[in-house]
Amino acid sequence: MENLVSKMINVESVQESYVLPLGKRPGKLIVPLCKTIPVVNLGGGDGRDQTEIIQQILKASQEFGFFQVINHGVSVKTSSDMLSVAKEFFEMPVEDIATLYSDDSKQICRVCTSIDYDKEEVHYWRDSLRHLCHPVEEYMHLWPQKPTIYREVVATYSVEMRKLGSRLLDLIGEGLGLESGYFGDELSSEELLMINNYPACPDPSLTLGLPKHSDPNLITLLLQEDVYGLQVFKDGQWIGIEPLPNAFVVNLGHQLQIISNGMLRSADHRVVTNSSVARTTVATFIHPSSECIIEPAKPLVKAHGSPLYRAFQYKEFNSNYRAKIKDKRWRLELGLLLLLGTDGGGIGRMVELLDCSLLLLWSLAAPTREGWYRDRSGAVMEVVAGYGDDGAAVSWRWRDIAVGKRNPLHSYCGGWFK
Ligand code: OGA
Ligand code: NI
Repeated sequence: MENLVSKMINVESVQESYVLPLGKRPGKLIVPLCKTIPVVNLGGGDGRDQTEIIQQILKASQEFGFFQVINHGVSVKTSSDMLSVAKEFFEMPVEDIATLYSDDSKQICRVCTSIDYDKEEVHYWRDSLRHLCHPVEEYMHLWPQKPTIYREVVATYSVEMRKLGSRLLDLIGEGLGLESGYFGDELSSEELLMINNYPACPDPSLTLGLPKHSDPNLITLLLQEDVYGLQVFKDGQWIGIEPLPNAFVVNLGHQLQIISNGMLRSADHRVVTNSSVARTTVATFIHPSSECIIEPAKPLVKAHGSPLYRAFQYKEFNSNYRAKIKDKRWRLELGLLLLLGTDGGGIGRMVELLDCSLLLLWSLAAPTREGWYRDRSGAVMEVVAGYGDDGAAVSWRWRDIAVGKRNPLHSYCGGWFK
């Protein structure tokens, strides 16, 4: 059954199932629009050479995990046609949209509300239409038939996005010192297009269009209109991404953080709603094939000394990513159990235990093995001394890796050991 928020016309208050718990609401806080998220001019002719462009992209990818691109070679018409047809789609009568509604994530082309409507505790103020699009000929017949120009417009747009995505990946690869074409083939073989529609909301302080998340794919290209809503989490605070005319917002997904062995980062972001107008965005997610093996690129492992992530199949990452919430609850319980069995150590210790309970349990069981270990929750622990002959306690410290903080990414790809 469809539950489209786009069709909740004239609602005066936010339905209870969309009201976030207190600590998770965006509230009435004014978030500054960020002028510091880099805007990279990809066009030539202004005296900058390619090396300079690469340096800008790499710096932005290290510091923010986000940047915007202008003069990117995608025509204004291609983008504006895409946005128009995206809006038109959600303006169609509910019967026309409902035929595509499905909560089954295996459907190649589907409409859904929020994220996982049937299973989640609170819903998000968003409807989306998503489908695969590369190669176009393979998927086009599965795309919506209405509006009648949908397939034509989206075919042109997705081919352009593929080109832009490949260009950016080539620049990133070159900047990282990887062989040319490194991200071609399997690592970027899939392209998923997602139209997000965030209707005007009677009280934006209570709900979100999308919660704090980092994209699980390789790289994302976002077309947004002139309505603000996207925020990035940087240095402990939210900053708003300013909508710029004819620009794409680019953000790195988890796979780029892993392949770059933590040199580049995938940043957390979220979407807020507003009470006056609907906001429509078109996200293109470029991602590896599900069989593809992901691992830190060899030259970057060499440069760093050791791999920060183990190798895994992309489909394994995806299923861990989806299972994350269940996993969290389980860890919490085990953490508390462990806490009861230890000699205390204050709040700091408790936080560590909650996050790292499984790891700790293992390390206490096999305490003489020194080295690096990483648990499913994202913490990295370095055992710096095992039990000595005199029975000295095992000593460990939490390592700060990749982004300067405990890194949730490991819960999807880390497993137990490096
Ligand atoms: C997403 C996303 C941002 C936006 O779809 O993953 O972060 O502004 N979208 O729609
Ligand atoms: Ni996202």
